[in-house]
Amino acid sequence: QTMTLKVNGPQSEVSPTMWGIFFEDINFSADGGIYAELIKNRSFEFTEPMMGWKEVKKEGAGNILIVNRETGHTANPRYAHITVTADKGSYGLFNEGFRGMGFKKGLSYNFSFLARSTAGKVSGKLVLVDDKGTPIGAVAVSAEDKAWKKYTATVTAERTVAKGGVQLLFSGTGALDMDMVSLFPQDTWKQRPGGLRNDLVQLLADLHPGFVRFPGGCIVEGRDLANRYQWKKTVGKPEDRTLIVNRWNTEFAHRAPGDYFQSYGLGFFEYFQLSEDIGAEPLPILNCGMACQFNTGEVAADEDVEAYIQDALDLIEFANGATTTEWGQLRAEMGHPAPFNLKLMGVGNEQWDSQYIARYQRFEEVLKTKHPEIKLVSSVGPFSSGERFDYLWSKLKPSKADLVDEHYYMPPEWFLKNSARYDKYERKGPKIFAGEYAAHVKVPQGKKETDTAEGRNTWESALAEAAFMTGLERNADLVQMASYAPLLAHVDAWQWRPDLIWFDNLRSVGTPNYYVQRLFANNKGTHTVSVTSGNRALTGQEGIYASATIDKQARKILLKVVNTTDKAAAYTIALEGAVAATGTATQEVLTAKAKSDINTLDAPSVVIPVTAQIKAGKNKVAITAGANSLNVITIPYK
Ligand code: AHR
Repeated sequence: QTMTLKVNGPQSEVSPTMWGIFFEDINFSADGGIYAELIKNRSFEFTEPMMGWKEVKKEGAGNILIVNRETGHTANPRYAHITVTADKGSYGLFNEGFRGMGFKKGLSYNFSFLARSTAGKVSGKLVLVDDKGTPIGAVAVSAEDKAWKKYTATVTAERTVAKGGVQLLFSGTGALDMDMVSLFPQDTWKQRPGGLRNDLVQLLADLHPGFVRFPGGCIVEGRDLANRYQWKKTVGKPEDRTLIVNRWNTEFAHRAPGDYFQSYGLGFFEYFQLSEDIGAEPLPILNCGMACQFNTGEVAADEDVEAYIQDALDLIEFANGATTTEWGQLRAEMGHPAPFNLKLMGVGNEQWDSQYIARYQRFEEVLKTKHPEIKLVSSVGPFSSGERFDYLWSKLKPSKADLVDEHYYMPPEWFLKNSARYDKYERKGPKIFAGEYAAHVKVPQGKKETDTAEGRNTWESALAEAAFMTGLERNADLVQMASYAPLLAHVDAWQWRPDLIWFDNLRSVGTPNYYVQRLFANNKGTHTVSVTSGNRALTGQEGIYASATIDKQARKILLKVVNTTDKAAAYTIALEGAVAATGTATQEVLTAKAKSDINTLDAPSVVIPVTAQIKAGKNKVAITAGANSLNVITIPYK
């Protein structure tokens, strides 16, 4: 059969933001995940102040009191007061980390804490231990000053351990106060102290995402307004950021029984910095005065909405304002005098009714007047909400929203049937942001929710997403942003699956879905071109889906062909309006032996792309799209 690629036909630009990532602190994505802090509950601010900590003691050797400074320290009121009456290091504390701590042989770790000595003389030792409590590295620490001060020490791990912990042992006679007890590996992303986990950021960077949407998701909304995400509480010195309970604590907790909090070590400054590091546009989503409808559904009083709008204005100042402005100055003090060049902002996450529209309109009025340069993202929430989705669309179509965020967590069949979803969509009005999507396979027969964590990221789901993504690409004039969700998940602490990337304390793995995203994002191109067979777009007739772009700078044709059938399909690609450059073209193929195949931390390369050279004639290129495969064919052209 022939596939015709009209390189000289009508084209539309592919937005540089087309393929991006959606970051939410769900599944231990931030604390216990990409934020490389190893100490859980480092400032004793969890609801139960000793959560994550245990005393290590001989009877009578010491004790610990948690002190709460209610005045003057609203962000971080608690600290530990430790009394030691042990001559030989027999009183101390153990920290269990986030499902243990991962240590790597030969790697050094930066330990730090705030402390003041309040009586006598106490000396201490930080000990890294394995899962049985056997030491694998130690360093002496002390705190002698009467005033609060930051103390630091470096310790090296002698062995690799996946689920270790630390002990902080004291000897002598006396007392001290401690706070912000912290341990970071030295191999963080860009070696930034107190930074992010290198392997996880690298996986994100390899996607070359056009944008990073943050900080969620439902955590933008919070279970109630008191626990909503407030960006101002996430910037400044880490010890001055106000910890709150994570919205994903407990309720959906298969494996996070009550110990999921947000320390905000990864806060808005770090999100902007991450976006900049990986060349992506930052897209912050702000609370619009509504808590999560899944929970309390609380809304802010009309007269209070102004404060939420002010937060949005101040955020623009924080990101883009001169360093002489209040918030611009804070950005500079945090180490980034240059603006972050914020261009996009989202108002609300998945709000469902007229309350949302009224609030969104108030944001729009102010933001479009004061900051017409910022593109506004509004939301119609989950496609599965049916009438609500349609209602919100009817209200937003005539609005000044630049993009409307649609979410779909649907079975693979839905994705296969909906690849032409946007072919006939209204072109007047806001553009589309497919802000959260993932194909959810049914629980495989004979399996339970507790099966292998990575178990729902099957090749079947990834292939269906690839088919659907050809439809997003074909409609790139309308669909200007898209992101899979959720992004990250700890195998021992997830609340939602499937997810794009799985990790434990030491390792990480891209799912088949990750490689689909990577293939599309790394072969984005600059303009769409039409690809037809028998004069029709390939939208699943006989199980074949296709879309194509060209990269005008690199002079490459980038054709994506998804074969969802069990038979290989051979095509002759006929080029119209371009001549293939002599030499070879390439075909990257992503496929699997079985639709149920998955990648796991133990077997990370079951479904990964393989590249082959193919011959290109001047105007004809022969390809074969194997059974159940995604193929990206790159043809240099003249
Ligand atoms: O991605 C998980 C959740 O799905 C998000 O927090 C929310 O926006 C949606 O309901």
